[in-house]
Amino acid sequence: MGSGFSVEAGGLDGNALHVLIADDDCDLRASLRDSLEDTGFTVTEASSGAETIARATASGPRRPDVILLDYRMDVDGLSVLRQLKDKGIEAPVIMMTGVANGEMATQAIQGGAANYLGKPFDDVETVVSAIRHEFEYAQLKRGESVVEFLTKSVDRSERIVGVSPQMIEVFKLVGLVARTTTTIVITGETGVGKEMIAEEIHARSDRRSNPLIKINCAAQPESLLESLLFGHEKGAFTGALSQHKGYFEVAHRGAILLDEIGEMSPHLQAKLLRVLQDQQFERVGGTEPVKVDVRVMAATNRNLRQAVDEGRFREDLYYRLYVVEIYIPPLRERMGDIPLLVSHFLEKHRYSPRSPAARITKEAVDKLMTHDWPGNVRELENVIQRAVALSQGEIITEEHISFGARSSHAVIDVDSALREGSTLEELMNSLRREAIAAALRLSSTPARAAERLGITLDELEAARATRLTRAVKVR
Ligand SMILES: Nc1ncnc2c1ncn2[C@@H]1O[C@H](COP(=O)(O)OP(=O)(O)OP(=O)(O)O)[C@@H](O)[C@H]1O
Ligand SMILES: [Mg+2]
Repeated sequence: MGSGFSVEAGGLDGNALHVLIADDDCDLRASLRDSLEDTGFTVTEASSGAETIARATASGPRRPDVILLDYRMDVDGLSVLRQLKDKGIEAPVIMMTGVANGEMATQAIQGGAANYLGKPFDDVETVVSAIRHEFEYAQLKRGESVVEFLTKSVDRSERIVGVSPQMIEVFKLVGLVARTTTTIVITGETGVGKEMIAEEIHARSDRRSNPLIKINCAAQPESLLESLLFGHEKGAFTGALSQHKGYFEVAHRGAILLDEIGEMSPHLQAKLLRVLQDQQFERVGGTEPVKVDVRVMAATNRNLRQAVDEGRFREDLYYRLYVVEIYIPPLRERMGDIPLLVSHFLEKHRYSPRSPAARITKEAVDKLMTHDWPGNVRELENVIQRAVALSQGEIITEEHISFGARSSHAVIDVDSALREGSTLEELMNSLRREAIAAALRLSSTPARAAERLGITLDELEAARATRLTRAVKVR
């Protein structure tokens, strides 16, 4: 498959992309028509519900590729939308609403609209890019061999891939929210691709030329996190020798991804709430408010609702953040993505920079399809990387596929350890270390690994540091 659909000059067949403008306001139709024709689109107009249906169902080249549909015409736009869907019209419908109202937007999307735009339009570019986007997206969904969600600006190897209906829904939501400045919470288990989705949203937004700053809220102590996020004034604390800008200032007109937001302290939660409400904050040790324009995205693999119920997370902040939630399902619920992910990772992880992509037997893929992937896509990527190394970049067979902690070598050989004089404590320590190593392998941070094991981070660090008096053999 090629690297994308060229829609500069029109549709895939080389003809101009054909847009139907359905609106009863003839001035609006005329001005939109002029702008769209200037862009190189072909335009037809409809001024009533009945005319819209007639034009949308036209045959051959007269059939529109994308429909712009007014929410309120002589008849209710939603009922026109319903009729279009009932008639099996595949052209994506973009609803135009006079009042950009969340409820209408939701109804439109639930009714099968691909997207919605509030009138009056800020600028025609927004309309043009929405049309292009929905056209590309519709092509993408229709195409049988189309398996990649294309990001033109991003390196091939860093692309997000997915064919499962669940991932198509995720991609669709990404397309919908990318051009907005809405706060977004991305949820899902470890390794499902939350960070990648945040990057994708940023890459598709109008802010893409400004930075996306990513910070893990669980990885640093509160005071450091505060000064990283909000900066500090000279002399704010011992060692603060000069004024320092925080990430929120650096990300001005860009975006920030707060990873593992559930780990934020109450003090920082309050400060973040203020940024979301008033777009301003004070640097540590400062009194002057700093104003910023930053799009906030957050990621969490925790149930934040539960954290709210338990009083660990502010409810008002929760509602501020959860404007849009993008949930990425675990890999075991979308096993259909595995073959595509495998070929993607074989392309990405060559044995050497000049090697061709390794190949894989059907039996090996079958083996991958039987695993339940607690570490999700990250685990799959690791398994493939290991298999490429073991097969020396040639053909990957079942023998090259092993699943981390569950593979046989992770099991302690108790019999020979006892014969060699190990004590119970030594055995238990070995098992503990194995479990910790496995949890670290499956988790993005030590904090997550500790959570997985049901211990505190300190306990994890202590156990990691335990010196074995005698090495216990593992099978
Ligand atoms: N759909 C996908 N297509 C291609 N690569 C993917 C996909 N999903 C995840 N990956 C890969 O899996 C790895 C984990 O993804 P990512 O870091 O985005 O997960 P995460 O959900 O943020 O994990 P964590 O909760 O542990 O932080 C990355 O290396 C990424 O390249
Ligand atoms: Mg992450």
